[in-house]
Amino acid sequence: MAQKILLTGGAGFIGSHTYVELAKAGYEVVILDNFSNAQRDVTDRLEVISGQDVTCVEGDVLNAPLLDKLFADHKFDAVIHFAALKAVGESTEKPLDYLTTNISGLYTLLGAMKKAEVFSLVFSSSATVYGQPDQLPVPETAPRSFNNPYGYTKLVCEQSLEQVAASDDRWAFGILRYFNPAGAHDTALIGEDPNDIPNNLMPYIAKVATGELEKLSVFGDDYDTPDGTGVRDYIHVMDLARGHVQSVDALLRTGNSHTVNLGTGTGYSVIDMLRAYEKAAGKDLPHQMAPRRAGDVASVYGDPDLAREVLGFQAERDLDDMCQSSWNWVSRRKNT
Ligand SMILES: NC(=O)c1ccc[n+]([C@@H]2O[C@H](COP(=O)([O-])OP(=O)(O)OC[C@H]3O[C@@H](n4cnc5c(N)ncnc54)[C@H](O)[C@@H]3O)[C@@H](O)[C@H]2O)c1
Repeated sequence: MAQKILLTGGAGFIGSHTYVELAKAGYEVVILDNFSNAQRDVTDRLEVISGQDVTCVEGDVLNAPLLDKLFADHKFDAVIHFAALKAVGESTEKPLDYLTTNISGLYTLLGAMKKAEVFSLVFSSSATVYGQPDQLPVPETAPRSFNNPYGYTKLVCEQSLEQVAASDDRWAFGILRYFNPAGAHDTALIGEDPNDIPNNLMPYIAKVATGELEKLSVFGDDYDTPDGTGVRDYIHVMDLARGHVQSVDALLRTGNSHTVNLGTGTGYSVIDMLRAYEKAAGKDLPHQMAPRRAGDVASVYGDPDLAREVLGFQAERDLDDMCQSSWNWVSRRKNT
């Protein structure tokens, strides 16, 4: 019988792509999402892509009675927990919302899992837990810190999972530290769709390409990098999605926890990204140089070796693929 996964935040950007890969791998999936940052038609699009009915429950991960009912109605083998608030800037304005959704949300979920005796969970962490790393590529053993309330929530969640895992060896956690997810599904039916001004580089460039934003400001061109602009590790969202399948496979197969980076191990600069997007969109994109932003670092890219050793994970898609799939998605979305 197919193994069954609860996918919190499964209507969101990374969650929806992960749904596709889980369905392809033969898992049965139930989405829980409150649609605070997702379009309602995502589930229709997932049905087209996966060729199967999508089970989606609208609700909040903080709603303990709802979670208890979900776990009573379904016999889940594991949970993949994406549901969270993720905008770094907003987290400094509304820290309490972030602490509640991200930290209390995880605690509520773990409480329901414990009652139902479901002990395997994949958690969406972030390279933000490395703060300003002083070693490149960043290994999983690098010291952890935080620069903002969002980063604090990811650090506290990781540490909480470590405490819980140490208390009872039935728990198995896959803590996945994402670098910068980018791109979209090849069908251009799902992708990243921020309503507000995007926080991240690729969706910002995408909105410049569609004409929704006037121009890109490149913050800092005097860093110690090949072209002077900031360098980051971008990973195609479909590679990232596959990493979740490999993580949940490993948890269910071995019962052992793991904490790994999910990145490519390659850094691309802001200008690399801009040029690749211009190639994908077939036009020049307006941009201007601007002063460095406080707190930004020159380069961050992850060491991908442990994910390869533990999960057999390796990113396969390159920057051109990220930009082309993103452009296909945003240009189609704008015209439908
Ligand atoms: N996108 C990134 O750059 C990035 C990087 C590192 C880590 N992450 C983490 O990955 C996860 C998914 O990120 P994403 O980019 O897909 O974000 P997203 O906002 O697209 O997806 C999150 C989903 O969770 C839902 N949600 C939010 N609060 C909820 C709640 N209380 N109850 C139920 N559903 C709720 C939203 O409606 C949304 O569909 C998050 O935990 C995020 O912190 C994202």
